[in-house]
Amino acid sequence: MEAMTAYAICRFSDIPSQRAIGFHLMILGKDGTPRPWPIVIVRWGKQVFGYINRCPHHGVNLDWERNQFLDTNGTRLMCGKHGSTFDLGTGACVDGPCKGRGLTPIGLAVLDGDICVTGIRLVEDDGTDDEEGA
Ligand code: FES
Repeated sequence: MEAMTAYAICRFSDIPSQRAIGFHLMILGKDGTPRPWPIVIVRWGKQVFGYINRCPHHGVNLDWERNQFLDTNGTRLMCGKHGSTFDLGTGACVDGPCKGRGLTPIGLAVLDGDICVTGIRLVEDDGTDDEEGA
């Protein structure tokens, strides 16, 4: 069996507790074709939860305002388009138009203080990309 690769996305300390941050990554599909892979990572104390950043209702990114992922109480993920809310720990939609459905969880691990994604093949940055710092 192939060893599981873990890709470090950010430091655990980069996400304050009770905050959520989105990342726009690229993964390689089974046929080797790169495709966008937007995710959201939520930190709650010592725990982290990660989901594909795609609302099960209309398939849009949850954060209409960049990195605005949480509802007004800060206790659920929320889709900015029609206001569906999702349980932080399971991704299940608890209220709104997609009630009964849920966000797609992603594999996460915290290794040596880094939050890592697992179970996918990430297109790794070759260092020539200058889109950061806008
Ligand atoms: S697109 Fe998210 S609730 Fe409608």
